[in-house]
Amino acid sequence: MKPRDYELDPFWMPFTANRQFKSAPRILVSAKDMHYTAEDGRRILDGTAGLWCVNAGHCRAPIVAAIKRQAETLDYSPLFQMAHPGEFRAAGLIAALAPAGLDRVFFANSGSEAVDTALKIALAYHRARGEGHRNVLIGRDRAYHGAGFGGMSVGGIPANRKAFGNMLGRVDHLPHTHNLEHNAFSRGQPAWGAHLADDLESRIIALHDASNIAAVIVEPVAGSTGVVVPPKGYLERLRAICSKNELLLIFDEVITGFGRTGCAFAAETFGVVPDMITFAKGITSGTVPMGGVIVRREIYDAVVNNAPPGMVELFHGYTYSGHPLATAAAEATLALYHEEKLLDRARELAPYFEEALHALKDVRHVIDIRNFGLMAGIELAPAPGKPGARGFEVFLRCFERGVLTRVTGDIIALSPPLIITKEQIDELVGTIGQALREVGPD
Ligand SMILES: Cc1ncc(COP(=O)(O)O)c(C=O)c1O
Repeated sequence: MKPRDYELDPFWMPFTANRQFKSAPRILVSAKDMHYTAEDGRRILDGTAGLWCVNAGHCRAPIVAAIKRQAETLDYSPLFQMAHPGEFRAAGLIAALAPAGLDRVFFANSGSEAVDTALKIALAYHRARGEGHRNVLIGRDRAYHGAGFGGMSVGGIPANRKAFGNMLGRVDHLPHTHNLEHNAFSRGQPAWGAHLADDLESRIIALHDASNIAAVIVEPVAGSTGVVVPPKGYLERLRAICSKNELLLIFDEVITGFGRTGCAFAAETFGVVPDMITFAKGITSGTVPMGGVIVRREIYDAVVNNAPPGMVELFHGYTYSGHPLATAAAEATLALYHEEKLLDRARELAPYFEEALHALKDVRHVIDIRNFGLMAGIELAPAPGKPGARGFEVFLRCFERGVLTRVTGDIIALSPPLIITKEQIDELVGTIGQALREVGPD
């Protein structure tokens, strides 16, 4: 192993146990297709598409070439009151993949920014229609919508909130749909739980009144909380209640977008069309940060057409919204998805992935396995008095054996690149099985 030419201490790592990591670092130095290379030269099979983002696989030549070309041609152009062609082209390509009616695209640079953007658009939309009193935002328990104050407020992961006091004030949360008693070891969408959507009407609307609520935001398949698949009929009910009460429905598709569930967006997979879709990650296959919101045309029209002529209509945006390198990467990534039919591939591989995963059912510590498309959660019984320790041990053992997984507490989450082969699925699941058999009883 080459000696490191850098110090570990100056870098404050995100969502990481800094002291633990720095005492035994796991450092990746390169990547190609399905594999990383660690600093000690080991090849690591990527079971998580980086962080749910490298859907086309790593360092794919056409994407790398497009980024390089763009960096040499137009590195940056101001993006307020100015534009470059890539923004329009990328927006058109993204809109073409979205459900009919959602065809206006606002760019941001991350999932967190995409979510904050969608929440702000929801408020601006109601205000533009003379209904500015609609300003309550509804999220869901266990949701992850990024690390900004907006996303954190509608999010429902307690550890992500507890240190940060002031959040958006007018927020409420639906109950989550995770329930081991009813749904353990469901394959695909669980049968139990559609009724949990009714809480929106029976409790939340009853409490706040529909006339005060701006929007409901959910992940169609919740990812970061450990992969929670929507019960059959659940998203349909949410849609119906939102439509009846004129609440905007936002699908946060930062993880589920770009092929993870077997279609371009989970909205299409589940046949439920929201009013806005947030995206990030897979749009550039993780190569250049990019996020954004796909908006129903009526929302764009209401905001834009109700502003005085010549005035900025939405006072929102980021210095790098639609950065040339990001749009170039997006165009090349979408072309590659198309060429290699990667947006359909999760649907084709899902049955094989499902069989492989559920073979772990009787392995010790496993209390649930859930899957949809190319995403899966394997939930472990926590070690007594040490929540998260068992999950982390499995993660470490897999890494030592050359497989990258992700853990949320005691849930192993999998979301491999869409180019994964059946043999690599076997390796991924087999390695997790081995690791599970090795970790101690407590
Ligand atoms: C559903 C969802 N929304 C938003 C985010 C935040 O994305 P980012 O980390 O790019 O800000 C994530 C990140 O995993 C996510 O899963």
